[in-house]
Amino acid sequence: MHFFGYAFMAAAFLFAGPSSIFALPTAKNAAVVSSLQDALEALEDNSMLERRDGHGFQVPRCNPGKYNLKLPLGEGSPKLTDAGSLKLKLLAIGHGTQNYTCADSTAKSKPVANGAYAELYDVSCFPSVIPGILNWLPYLFLHKPRAIPVEKLPKVGVHYFYPDASTPVFDVNEVTATAKKGRFVGMKSENITAPSGANTGVAPNAFGAVDWLKLVSTDNVRTASGRVFASNGYKAVYRVETAGGRPPATCQGRPTHFEILYAAQYWLYN
Ligand SMILES: *[C@@H]1O[C@H](CO)[C@@H](O)[C@H](O)[C@H]1NC(C)=O
Ligand SMILES: *[C@@H]1O[C@H](CO)[C@@H](O)[C@H](O)[C@H]1NC(C)=O
Repeated sequence: MHFFGYAFMAAAFLFAGPSSIFALPTAKNAAVVSSLQDALEALEDNSMLERRDGHGFQVPRCNPGKYNLKLPLGEGSPKLTDAGSLKLKLLAIGHGTQNYTCADSTAKSKPVANGAYAELYDVSCFPSVIPGILNWLPYLFLHKPRAIPVEKLPKVGVHYFYPDASTPVFDVNEVTATAKKGRFVGMKSENITAPSGANTGVAPNAFGAVDWLKLVSTDNVRTASGRVFASNGYKAVYRVETAGGRPPATCQGRPTHFEILYAAQYWLYN
């Protein structure tokens, strides 16, 4: 895959022992670092990571806007358009399900997208600790959630669809070192097919990786009772580096509602 080329120079500092080169400022950062150790070990178990001696690393500051991170916009053509003057506010991994419906359980009907539900984990600190870890995360969440372990990571919110299956919502409801509370309510603006090397998902439902998306906020969404349901603090969301989530080609043998596991990077801008 395209991230094989990364030199995991930072690995050494994580294993440097007690005379470590920095002091961890908060319990949250400690949790991130220890989970990274496990993530690294999981990578090593799969012979995907080469331990190397490296240089000192700075304490994570957890502001993704500071790292000059480059949002991946696609590998082929077309690509997603960039975020313009908007600023990156939160880098999260979404881990959950894409939901689908089927009119019947025959090969004649095709699954129809019916929303999704994902927990959002703040990984804004990760790139400063280990360059290159970011693109491994959707894969690790999907296939090795216990190895990371996912439950140790800072959960910042949830992604769901409301009030209908075409209105994606991101509720950032936990304050972390990085994230501000806020909400994104929007619509799909652009989509491209995931790159051919993308992880296809969890067997027996490994049907491919869902599209990469650009979502933009909307102001005219109303709840069933007529209340305006608006974004607050987030104007655009990208779903990239997707793993899994695609439905089977047909509805053969499927119930009317079913779910396919997926994980992805979500880049939230304002
Ligand atoms: C975008 O999504 C639509 C609807 O799912 C799909 O038909 C189309 O092929 C997608 N476009 C690309 C470039 O993948
Ligand atoms: C979609 O997935 C979520 C999370 O598992 C679930 O709570 C919800 O009921 C599902 N929706 C449908 C229509 O199956």
